[in-house]
Amino acid sequence: MASELIYRGHENENQPQATNFDLPKPSKPWLSITHFIRYILRENRLVFVLIGMAIATIFFTFLPSSSTTYPLHPYRNYESLSDSYFPSEKTQVTTRVNYNGFKANVNLGGKIPLGLKRKGLRIVVTGGAGFVGSHLVDRLMARGDSVIVVDNFFTGRKENVMHHFGNPRFELIRHDVVEPLLLEVDQIYHLACPASPVHYKFNPVKTIKTNVVGTLNMLGLAKRIGARFLLTSTSEVYGDPLQHPQVETYWGNVNPIGVRSCYDEGKRTAETLAMDYHRGADVEVRIARIFNTYGPRMCIDDGRVVSNFVAQALRKQPLTVYGDGKQTRSFQYVSDLVEGLMRLMEGEHVGPFNLGNPGEFTMLELAQVVQETIDPNAKIEFRQNTEDDPHKRKPDITKAKDLLGWKPTVPLRKGLPLMVADFRQRIFGDHQEGGSAS
Ligand SMILES: NC(=O)c1ccc[n+]([C@@H]2O[C@H](COP(=O)([O-])OP(=O)(O)OC[C@H]3O[C@@H](n4cnc5c(N)ncnc54)[C@H](O)[C@@H]3O)[C@@H](O)[C@H]2O)c1
Repeated sequence: MASELIYRGHENENQPQATNFDLPKPSKPWLSITHFIRYILRENRLVFVLIGMAIATIFFTFLPSSSTTYPLHPYRNYESLSDSYFPSEKTQVTTRVNYNGFKANVNLGGKIPLGLKRKGLRIVVTGGAGFVGSHLVDRLMARGDSVIVVDNFFTGRKENVMHHFGNPRFELIRHDVVEPLLLEVDQIYHLACPASPVHYKFNPVKTIKTNVVGTLNMLGLAKRIGARFLLTSTSEVYGDPLQHPQVETYWGNVNPIGVRSCYDEGKRTAETLAMDYHRGADVEVRIARIFNTYGPRMCIDDGRVVSNFVAQALRKQPLTVYGDGKQTRSFQYVSDLVEGLMRLMEGEHVGPFNLGNPGEFTMLELAQVVQETIDPNAKIEFRQNTEDDPHKRKPDITKAKDLLGWKPTVPLRKGLPLMVADFRQRIFGDHQEGGSAS
């Protein structure tokens, strides 16, 4: 039978015939797989193969994938919305921001479409419709950043920022920082808080809530989105200081139960919160302790001494001096402060930093400068001093000079006329501008 198969069909028997062994074998890849499976089954090793596959799956699932640098993206959910006070290790890794290139080191798991990539910084300024905030917004807009102002307009005014309306890089949100807020930004300047005694004493519970709950909310936001956070604290954290001038290492002399405590202690707590988020949650924070600042757009009649004197002198009213007028203050022009805040935000130091003008004036000396600038015949009226009014206040700005390369440049006699022009326009309007007392 075998020989029949071998020789069938071959006409010339003299031709050398190929045997079965000489013919090339047809390739049958399935054969080797079948053999392999049979072998596994025969050897009863399938169970080991399955265990191996399971281990490999677990390994590749939990292996930290290499982080890619992409800009923060408005549609990415970087972290869960619930703000646990201490983040998981994963959160800390994925939300750190690299400020050299203003990129976030986040594991996005996919590329961002080209059209959605952004240039420049996105910055939120809480309290941005207020006096200091609006000047800061002007500088940031001029630098080319995209700015979102968040303000409840308690003391701020739309008029302070309305010259940016219509600019696609500018947004204004009416919002109270006591309520949580979710935004996608690179930096948060947290200024929201009434700053003058008249306003912060108006509703003390609201003031301390703004300082504590509001700051907590904005720090929580900074943590979630990996944004850098700057707190505008105050020289009031030194209370009625026993050390003069005040250095940042001085812990202050504050009355915890006085009428100013909602502000003083509120800001002290805000500083504590900022440092705890920095140490405990790895949030990049910056703390500025601002000393008395003046300039255009200050609230008229807000009880702060410079705005009071200027408004009174313009209205031909006597300048009210509280106490004997020998208590001292230092007065910083607003553009100097804004420069300091921006240097602090962009720098590498947490602070706190005193930002103020060390040039010290008594209230009586200030009244004299106002008389010289507005009305030499303005009268001075003495009134009883308010509770807890500090006697002396003068910043030591050595730290800011050394580490931020910052110092104020606008002296009172130069800055005051700029503020007077703004107040005159707002008090008398365009029509009477020329006819005001001068
Ligand atoms: N101007 C100064 O001399 C001085 C001194 C020390 C500290 N500071 C600090 O600087 C920051 C700005 O001060 P300013 O002089 O511009 O005061 P401001 O009153 O002009 O501005 C504060 C802004 O915050 C807003 N605001 C208040 N509570 C809010 C809330 N709950 N939610 C949202 N917005 C709210 C107000 O409407 C206003 O626009 C404040 O935090 C203040 O404590 C200012």
